[in-house]
Amino acid sequence: MSFKIKNNIFWVGIKDWELRKFHGDEYSTNRGSTYNSYLIKEEKNVLIDTVWTPFSREFVSNLSKEINLDEIDYIITNHAESDHSGALPELMREIPNTPIYCTKNGVNSIKGHYHKDWDFHVVKTGDTLSVGNGKDIIFVEMRMLHWPDSMASYLTKDNVLFSNDAFGQHYASEFMYNDLVDQNELYDECIKYYANILTPFSMFVDRKIKEVLDLKIPIDIIATSHGVIWRDNPLQIVEKYALWANDYQENQITIIYDTMWHGTRRMAEHIAKGIREADDKITVKILSTSKYDKNDIITEVFKSKTILIGSPTVGKGILSSIAAILEEIKGLGFKNKKAASFGCYGWSGESVKVLNDLLEKAGFSIINDGIRALWNPTDDALKECQAFGREIVKNNK
Ligand code: FEO
Repeated sequence: MSFKIKNNIFWVGIKDWELRKFHGDEYSTNRGSTYNSYLIKEEKNVLIDTVWTPFSREFVSNLSKEINLDEIDYIITNHAESDHSGALPELMREIPNTPIYCTKNGVNSIKGHYHKDWDFHVVKTGDTLSVGNGKDIIFVEMRMLHWPDSMASYLTKDNVLFSNDAFGQHYASEFMYNDLVDQNELYDECIKYYANILTPFSMFVDRKIKEVLDLKIPIDIIATSHGVIWRDNPLQIVEKYALWANDYQENQITIIYDTMWHGTRRMAEHIAKGIREADDKITVKILSTSKYDKNDIITEVFKSKTILIGSPTVGKGILSSIAAILEEIKGLGFKNKKAASFGCYGWSGESVKVLNDLLEKAGFSIINDGIRALWNPTDDALKECQAFGREIVKNNK
């Protein structure tokens, strides 16, 4: 099934309504996702990207109803990750000599995935490919946005930027365009995507956005490779990326904990109470790592100025769900955020020290030594937690 995007540009992708996990089990896709592939039918016929491997047959079958496959002149592979290149082997079995345009790193990645020596044509920023009727595709390398091979392709005259992963969302909808979907859902999926996938590359995002805006090319549509297409004020998502790429923070403190017998949970609640007492304008969120979606937790970390992490001491360490989220937080390389720790203990009580060490290694600025409560917290211990919360507010600048 195809969908006309503009003039001679057609969406020929796949909507994956059932997808609930992406990147293995790493990323929750509670609203499914889409693999957007585009077909440009000018004097030359150009296919931009394909879809994820399990949909190869369906994709090629649908595409062959849209165009005689032999009439595809060029394939552009903006990015080699399997969700966009996965159907290439199936397609190339039908049209093995069709040239594939991609970056130098793209050739390495595609060969690394499929071990085929197709007719690759390496392009770099500023290179063009004529599609006829006075229109050109201009290539823009998007290195580390989010892979070394990533690039975008811009179609002149129609003013469409095919941005691949950048500006996308894991969001399957019957609607194709940004102005037609629920705006809160769209925002949530965009910020989750940025926080969980693009955070480590923020420096590159910032630079690339400036570079693209400096080109002063008109952009009427941003056709991403996931989710809805930006046609209404498409630069709004570029502006959001510019904001998110610069150590983004809201006035928020997020308390992340896990608990065995609810002692650490009660500490979390009283710390939150203390924060609210000190400043009721701060958004405070309490999230249990064993109950909440980890990608949603990461998104809340992304929004926070300060995070507080709580775990009781187990053996000589911390609960595994807390260790797991801290490993993920470390990998994302958040900048300019503060942290402190808390937790119950029965005898040796190492958890707070372990948490502080992990937070420091993850690049957080540690506010204080943290707070511990022996056994089940007494009323006095909970009052100390409230005072701890009030103290955190003083440092939440
Ligand atoms: Fe949507 Fe990096 O793949």
